[in-house]
Amino acid sequence: MKAVVANGQREIEFVTNAEKPVPNKGQILGHVLQVGLNPIDWKIAYNVPIPKGTIGGTDFVAIVEEVGEGVDASKYIGARVSGWVPGFLSISGSAWAEYVCTDARLVFFVPDSIVSSKACAVPVALTTASQGIHQRIGLPMPNPDGSVNPIRRKWFLVWGGASSVGQYAIQFAKLGGCNVVATCSPNNFEQIKKLGASFVFDYHDSHVVEKIKQATNDSVFFGYDAISLPHTITKSIMAFSSEAKAAKLVTVLGPPENPRAEAVDTITVFSFTAFNEEFEFFGEKMVGNDEDYEHTAKLFELVSTLLEKGIIVPNATREFHGGLEVIPDALREFASGNHSAVKFVINV
Ligand SMILES: NC(=O)c1ccc[n+]([C@@H]2O[C@H](COP(=O)([O-])OP(=O)(O)OC[C@H]3O[C@@H](n4cnc5c(N)ncnc54)[C@H](OP(=O)(O)O)[C@@H]3O)[C@@H](O)[C@H]2O)c1
Repeated sequence: MKAVVANGQREIEFVTNAEKPVPNKGQILGHVLQVGLNPIDWKIAYNVPIPKGTIGGTDFVAIVEEVGEGVDASKYIGARVSGWVPGFLSISGSAWAEYVCTDARLVFFVPDSIVSSKACAVPVALTTASQGIHQRIGLPMPNPDGSVNPIRRKWFLVWGGASSVGQYAIQFAKLGGCNVVATCSPNNFEQIKKLGASFVFDYHDSHVVEKIKQATNDSVFFGYDAISLPHTITKSIMAFSSEAKAAKLVTVLGPPENPRAEAVDTITVFSFTAFNEEFEFFGEKMVGNDEDYEHTAKLFELVSTLLEKGIIVPNATREFHGGLEVIPDALREFASGNHSAVKFVINV
């Protein structure tokens, strides 16, 4: 089958002779319609010595053609589903190919009202935001009727509100009952407010921390740094309330330096733990666990309803045509980091 693979020299290439996967017990085999790009795709492709011929790719939308043992064929065959797989790091699935195999519980059924490109912008980023906000911070999951959970109304900071992960973090924080303040570039202010942020500030502004503290009356007690560079982690922590004690900041890269360890706990998420596998991640051994797997399966059960009712809004997308062949160029462009508030989606 056609696929995009590592070339053994920290680059990727299009091939036509990859082996079609076979669904194992508990898995589905899907005919891939679209794939979405994530930063992890290029970070690994260009920096990690991946064996030549390993297929890459994470987010996908596919039509289910076969199921493995123990999977209800009547429920899955012919369905349009979306999910993500660990790509280059995985023994259990990669998306940049004509066919993908994955755990049947780690896909969601795409509602008829949602086009495939929008669905493709959901899986990795949504999982990462939910792991941080629902599992690590402990805010409640969204209600299927979209009602906001009536909790303490504390302020929640999302740094990098225009990133794919940040956009879902804003929506989950709001639905979880918090008031949200976010940072992004001025061209994205309106869009980020529509997702639920009450205040949005430009992260390029040298007074951004003071402005966040002033707007929230010095009351940030939760945070999600969807960028997690050393300077964004420091600024996020400094924007927390002066009265914070055991407040919680989620980071997506880590472990972070913490200038206020007595006031703010930092928690680094690693979405790949949703898969019950062991990963070698930039020289470190990481293992999946049942709790994260079960959480993600539950999230994906709920997300079809949330998307159908417009309770969760997917990222804006930029679509690429021309099939899997265009992935090497699209990934190079994505890695240059010049995109803003948009998910790159490739029509396979
Ligand atoms: N730990 C995990 O499991 C996990 C999972 C997924 C992703 N990640 C990581 O999370 C990060 C975000 O991923 P993503 O897919 O959401 O990225 P993305 O959509 O490609 O992020 C692009 C956006 O980042 C914003 N941005 C860039 N620099 C910023 C800064 N200094 N402050 C605030 N915003 C900034 C830009 O906002 P403006 O356009 O408004 O300037 C841009 O729109 C990546 O580093 C990725 O590797 C980790």
